[in-house]
Amino acid sequence: MGRKFFVGGNWKCNGTEDQVKKIVDTLNGAEIASPDVVDVVVSPPFVFLTSAKSSLRPEIQVAAQNCWVKKGGAFTGEVSAEMLASLNIPWVILGHSERRALLNESNEFVGEKVAYALSQGLKVIACVGETLEQREAGHTMTVVAEQTKAIEDKVSNWTDVVLAYEPVWAIGTGKVATPAQAQEVHKELREWLAKNVSAEVAETTRIIYGGSVTGASCNELAAQPDVDGFLVGGASLKPEFVNIINAAT
Ligand code: G3P
Repeated sequence: MGRKFFVGGNWKCNGTEDQVKKIVDTLNGAEIASPDVVDVVVSPPFVFLTSAKSSLRPEIQVAAQNCWVKKGGAFTGEVSAEMLASLNIPWVILGHSERRALLNESNEFVGEKVAYALSQGLKVIACVGETLEQREAGHTMTVVAEQTKAIEDKVSNWTDVVLAYEPVWAIGTGKVATPAQAQEVHKELREWLAKNVSAEVAETTRIIYGGSVTGASCNELAAQPDVDGFLVGGASLKPEFVNIINAAT
């Protein structure tokens, strides 16, 4: 199999200069698994990105939490992929459910963002996931497949894509998916990639889980064959994030 474990920390709209320094100091001083074993990518808000990048130990990478859908210009308030690339910010999170819901980012818009960010040399954590209503109606895989297809329609090279399955009903709720629930969707996503992209992309693409992951739940989830890591929200702001990083070992 040989997919390197991947742990992302999505800080969302959180942090002050002091809090960022505390988190960075904790991460810089922690015993974490070797970069041969795990990719660690933390995602501060834009305003702390470059300072976090310059103060973090080199084996911890950074991601922006979003970027604009095309070349910069008269798009007030937006941050372009070119700007991130010029600052050597290697990763960007796109399609997060909070942006899909609160800012009406459509599947197609997310697909276009992923393609454009990749075209500018960024690596992408692309988020998909269903709402509680969609799961209870039995539409989980239909929804997740539609979201993934909108990305696949625009992306030809998956090398720099990590797919994050984040069930909306588990985000910020404390209701983490069971290992079986996560494994079921990850396996079906991998089968979808094999059928619609290629066996190689299905085999090599990391599919990571996000939604109320904690130090207590990470090990059982990490033991699932198709769970290749995590995208962590709340717990990435706490020292237990180190435990989640080390779930790979
Ligand atoms: O992007 C990760 C995030 O949506 C998960 O949030 O707080 O449930 O770990 P949280």
